[in-house]
Amino acid sequence: MSGVPARHHECDSTFIVTPAVRASKYGHVGVVVWFTGLPCSGKSTLARALESHLVNRGVHVAVLDGDDIRGSVNSDLGFSAVDRRENVRRVAEIARLLAHAGTVAVAALVSPYEQDRQAARAIVTRGDPDALFCQVFLDVPVATCERRDVRGWYAKARANLASEFTGISAPYQAPRDSEITLRTDEHGVDACVSRLMDFLAPRIRRDVREGDIASNARGRDFSTYNVRPRAVVPASSARRQQH
Ligand SMILES: Nc1ncnc2c1ncn2[C@@H]1O[C@H](COP(=O)(O)OP(=O)(O)OP(=O)(O)O)[C@@H](O)[C@H]1O
Ligand SMILES: [Mg+2]
Repeated sequence: MSGVPARHHECDSTFIVTPAVRASKYGHVGVVVWFTGLPCSGKSTLARALESHLVNRGVHVAVLDGDDIRGSVNSDLGFSAVDRRENVRRVAEIARLLAHAGTVAVAALVSPYEQDRQAARAIVTRGDPDALFCQVFLDVPVATCERRDVRGWYAKARANLASEFTGISAPYQAPRDSEITLRTDEHGVDACVSRLMDFLAPRIRRDVREGDIASNARGRDFSTYNVRPRAVVPASSARRQQH
């Protein structure tokens, strides 16, 4: 078609927004926060609590919740190992796009297989080793999750009315390489969000120059997280910090 650039990189460079410009305008960089854990371990609850906390501090956030995704873009997928892999792959690609656009993308998926989570990490960091994929493992005994049984799925799985249900009739491979591990059976929502913020606050504001921090941080309260004016944390040290 005439007049339409064949590829986006042929666009006029005047309109190219670099990651540094985006970060200085938004006051933070985009990252991916990936919650994994058994059904009822608290992924959706913590994703929404974290979203609320960050949005109230002026951070752009998008939550990709497994239930919403399975009811929309991934409605063609089931719960076989192959379909779960594809579910994770698509969410990782969407999260990558959002993070590159400067958003904190919060994914909340059971994502039970180690190989699929590693693939998600590889997608997010593809071509950008500094991109932050922050895996949050909600380490909760299955008995606790089953007692919670928010929507009755554990009861259905026990009665053989729900097949391939993670924790009962399908496996959950606990990760060993998470940036953050939280016991939601031992700590309340506020304490968990506080732990998440201890990790995230300095990292989502890396790359923002000092002068930009001063102007962009106005009206935003990160003070309770002891973020120093120049909070530069290399992505490599951001990996695999257990709490
Ligand atoms: N510290 C905590 N963090 C998160 N949830 C908690 C915590 N303590 C108790 N809960 C409770 O655990 C339940 C977790 O339900 P939630 O829907 O968030 O789980 P989920 O991991 O998203 O499950 P699913 O995989 O089925 O979507 C909620 O009832 C929540 O109130
Ligand atoms: Mg959920």
